[in-house]
Amino acid sequence: MPAPHPALAALLDGPAIWHTLVVLEETASTNDVVATRAAEGAPPGLVVVADRQTAGRGRLGRRWQDQGEQRSLLVSVLVDAPPRHASLVPLATGVAIGDALRRRGAAARLKWPNDVLLPGPDGELRKCAGVLVERYDGRLVIGMGINLDWRGADAHADAPGAISVAEVVGSDVDRWAVLADLLRALEAWLRDAPREPVRMLVAYRSRCATIGQDVRVSLPGEEILEGRAVDLTDDGALIVATPRANVTVTAGDVVHVRPTDGVS
Ligand code: BTN
Repeated sequence: MPAPHPALAALLDGPAIWHTLVVLEETASTNDVVATRAAEGAPPGLVVVADRQTAGRGRLGRRWQDQGEQRSLLVSVLVDAPPRHASLVPLATGVAIGDALRRRGAAARLKWPNDVLLPGPDGELRKCAGVLVERYDGRLVIGMGINLDWRGADAHADAPGAISVAEVVGSDVDRWAVLADLLRALEAWLRDAPREPVRMLVAYRSRCATIGQDVRVSLPGEEILEGRAVDLTDDGALIVATPRANVTVTAGDVVHVRPTDGVS
């Protein structure tokens, strides 16, 4: 299949790590397709996009609902796991998605670890994209779901806290142009993060809506932690100040506590 956009064709034909683009009308989960192809010997640099998923997965065992009709960019890529600082990959991916959305005029922010947020009509930040990184045999499958154009869709009944890029920028959003920008940014940040983690963390902090917020964190094992998010560690963990101590959170579900921000 010819690349559906000149910028993508240039990426796939050029020196970028991305070499193969597979576009599917429907699949259960693009992460699964990438893992299957990796098992069959596909090298890193594989990119799989689906128009819709029947069993899209989110973080923490959740479902990831898309609105079909190519209203979202549903994409997974296969990359080598970096030898150092692998915990920074999900954060670097959030930064890369933010870069791609900023190029479309949307002022993306990040909710730790890697939700991408855009301001709704009331100014409150809402989720526009999410990232699911899974390990596969020494490699990483990075799955990204970006709500592109939910205008006129019945989407907000399914996902009341969510928003799409087109609703924010007020114009059509070219899925393939977003993908080309995303892949370019992702390659650069994935290359940089293990070598220059500080540079990536500076970029992350400058876009992070979580730092400075009062947060409620559901930790693995159902423990709840409440406090103020104050910083990140060098590994990308979130530091939450509680009345008793600073707690380092490496995994969990963060809610920004109202009224400063309504994102959950
Ligand atoms: C989250 O925010 O919980 C992560 C959502 C990740 C969704 C994407 S869509 C493409 C890829 N395939 C999946 O099944 N999940 C990821």
